[in-house]
Amino acid sequence: MQRKKILYLTDLNYQAKGRVYSEEDIYITGKLKEIFDVVLCHPECAEGFEDEADLIVFRNTGSVIGYKETYNSFVNRVKQKGLRTFNTFTGKADMNGKQYLLDLTGENYPVIPTVDSADCLDMLPETDNYVVKPKDGADSIGLEFLTKEEVAVRGLSGGRFLIQPRIDFEYELSFYFINDKLEYALYAPDKTKRWVLRQYHYSDDDLLFAKKFIVWNTIDKGIQRVDACRAKDGRLLLVELEDLNPYLSLLEVDEKTRDVFMTDFINAIDNA
Ligand SMILES: Nc1ncnc2c1ncn2[C@@H]1O[C@H](COP(=O)(O)OP(=O)(O)O)[C@@H](O)[C@H]1O
Ligand SMILES: [Mg+2]
Repeated sequence: MQRKKILYLTDLNYQAKGRVYSEEDIYITGKLKEIFDVVLCHPECAEGFEDEADLIVFRNTGSVIGYKETYNSFVNRVKQKGLRTFNTFTGKADMNGKQYLLDLTGENYPVIPTVDSADCLDMLPETDNYVVKPKDGADSIGLEFLTKEEVAVRGLSGGRFLIQPRIDFEYELSFYFINDKLEYALYAPDKTKRWVLRQYHYSDDDLLFAKKFIVWNTIDKGIQRVDACRAKDGRLLLVELEDLNPYLSLLEVDEKTRDVFMTDFINAIDNA
């Protein structure tokens, strides 16, 4: 049988704090090439190769702010030409910016309460400390911690920024899904080093929490990461639903977990 042709999109030069994304891609593509014909490519160079591929896998391409027009025209071509992609470009979360945080707040999901105007601060829990982030931001670009007075002075009312209470959480954790299966969870025991992750032994309630967002979202096929924080009262709150190109920290999980992940990933690609 003919091997599937995979166009694997990534930015091997992406500079992420405390991590080298390309090492993960080298590992993953090393495994994929045992089953598929794989070529690696930066999204900015993808157009000329797309039509040849049976499937385009969108991976560690970094923040799309750096190549917004390229990204938008790529997504348009995916839709117009019906290109097969993994993830599918059908999500409601991060692949469309951070608007979904407002949507989920409105729908009473367990998410950090979010508004997009200083006029709506009274809809948030009472606090003196806020987090402000650009609606189309990622990788903490433009993220600021502000006091109540600073928020008032900024006049943040144009809908371009999201405003949240600053959560004094215990720790942050992430749940990694392939399609609708939770593969593993990791947490950051040291709040000052959020990229230093350890295995997290999740409870049934934790799984239910994370699954809620996967069920809410409309990704048919793909990898998603549910980022959350554990508030002081013990509740989990969603920080981010990464449905475009979540970094997986795959080289930091134990070998058995990683092997299961790769088997599931290969099967998911085979069936995409
Ligand atoms: N409301 C908040 N309260 C406390 N910390 C926050 C809040 N929002 C974000 N952070 C901190 O900033 C980090 C980056 O925020 P996030 O919303 O995930 O944006 P990005 O898209 O830049 O990853 C989080 O991992 C968390 O440590
Ligand atoms: Mg984040």
